[in-house]
Amino acid sequence: MTAYSNSAAGWSTWRNSHLQGPLWLFKAVITDTDYDALLSGNNKSRRSVARKLAQRALWFWPRIDDAAGWAEAEMGGHWSPDLYLRENPTRPAQRVIDVIPRSETLMELACNSGCDLNFVHQAGFTQVKGVDVSGQALVTFQEVFPEAWASAEISHDLFQRYLLNQPAKSVDTIYSNGCAIELVHPSFPIVREICRVARHNVILDLDPYIAGYTRDYVGQFRKRGFTIAYSTEAADGPGVSHLYHFVAR
Ligand SMILES: C[S@@+](CC[C@H](N)C(=O)[O-])C[C@H]1O[C@@H](n2cnc3c(N)ncnc32)[C@H](O)[C@@H]1O
Repeated sequence: MTAYSNSAAGWSTWRNSHLQGPLWLFKAVITDTDYDALLSGNNKSRRSVARKLAQRALWFWPRIDDAAGWAEAEMGGHWSPDLYLRENPTRPAQRVIDVIPRSETLMELACNSGCDLNFVHQAGFTQVKGVDVSGQALVTFQEVFPEAWASAEISHDLFQRYLLNQPAKSVDTIYSNGCAIELVHPSFPIVREICRVARHNVILDLDPYIAGYTRDYVGQFRKRGFTIAYSTEAADGPGVSHLYHFVAR
């Protein structure tokens, strides 16, 4: 399947992949006050008329509003953290367990209530970081998996600020089960930032064409020096998410 198989989807995929605003604009518009307001459930108060107009007029205008619903997710609600407590590792976590040396440092994007992070902890990984915007999910994580929580370095933050604060090539392997990075608006170069921070591997389960913002993920990773070492795309067939294991060239 190509990234541009139908023209409407093709245009938005191309635009989301290639017509991004500059990072300096994102940093100038989205400040710590915006991140902190969103994390504390006060994003609405930051959405001024001027901001809404700029976002409506310029599709690439910086925004983080998509994460607000997740930041406010409650137990028993639509995005309840217990929905992500699984009996088995997701495909990215299983791939990490199967092929990554235990000496590697790991970072999980969207760790939610800690299920995958607990599996990699039990598998013997000792240097693990995680991040999620949902405060309730992290409370659940701490309650359900206290040992994995204590062994890891967990941040309550947005991918955007968290990644910007990480030094280049500071983590061996980044992994994430979707739909997570697909939810990041293209005004933030999420793939570029992941490639800047990851030293060896990026392992993702992605729904590139259906969930969140469509992007040409494979092309974007390739452009940043990462090639596909393994993918389930052919075996999965179209219309579902695929596992991708990218390695740094
Ligand atoms: C569909 S859930 C996937 C959770 C987990 N990866 C799993 O598969 O069990 C999406 C996750 O992304 C998190 N999330 C969404 N946008 C985010 C952002 N901008 N920064 C950090 N976390 C975000 C949500 O809180 C949620 O945990």
